[in-house]
Amino acid sequence: MIFKVLFSILILTNCCTLNQIQKNTRILRGYYKDVLNYQQINLISRKNTYFNGGLLNSQLNRDAIYYVNTGIGYTFCSLHHSIEIFLFKKYQLNTIVIEIWNRSANPHYDFEVYIGYLENEKQIYENSSFAGIIRIRFEDQLVDKIRIYNRGGSNYNGNLSVIKVQAFYQIQN
Ligand SMILES: *[C@@H]1O[C@H](CO)[C@@H](O)[C@H](O)[C@H]1NC(C)=O
Ligand SMILES: *[C@@H]1O[C@H](CO)[C@@H](O)[C@H](O)[C@H]1NC(C)=O
Ligand SMILES: *[C@@H]1O[C@H](CO)[C@@H](O)[C@H](O)[C@H]1NC(C)=O
Repeated sequence: MIFKVLFSILILTNCCTLNQIQKNTRILRGYYKDVLNYQQINLISRKNTYFNGGLLNSQLNRDAIYYVNTGIGYTFCSLHHSIEIFLFKKYQLNTIVIEIWNRSANPHYDFEVYIGYLENEKQIYENSSFAGIIRIRFEDQLVDKIRIYNRGGSNYNGNLSVIKVQAFYQIQN
């Protein structure tokens, strides 16, 4: 009995302190860090998606992104397919950063970006002539999936080639 009462008090204090709420928010927001980083390759669907140069050298959530050439260093999908990234749990996010591969020919890519939660998707970006790195801001939202759709390839070839993707919650200044 005393045990039970003690236990309830513990739960109460645990659930209702400001600290606990703040802690839960931090967890939900992935501690404000990139929630894709250091995850396993299974995070990225292999359906229609390829890894040039072996998984460790090419997956878009790796850290070593500095060695890229025609045979190594990027994740890609062919025309009218998507690169799908499944998160292991839901996170509250508001920022996604994508670096596409800027081949020496300086290509421009045609693609769309979606965020998803419980099978519902929302488009957060599109560009028919994009080059370089894009930082996409969106309303705070629970996310369990990110999808990059290759709408029109690039002026180099039909593939959508991505070097790096990061997703996180950024506190507004
Ligand atoms: C599309 O990409 C180009 C090149 O990076 C950029 O200048 C332009 O602002 C982008 N458009 C949109 C709608 O983001
Ligand atoms: C892409 O690379 C080319 C050649 O290295 C460079 O001239 C160009 O400015 C780069 N474009 C972007 C958007 O970074
Ligand atoms: C896409 O990239 C792969 C691997 O580099 C290449 O074999 C294929 O020809 C490319 N597709 C197109 C349409 O260029």
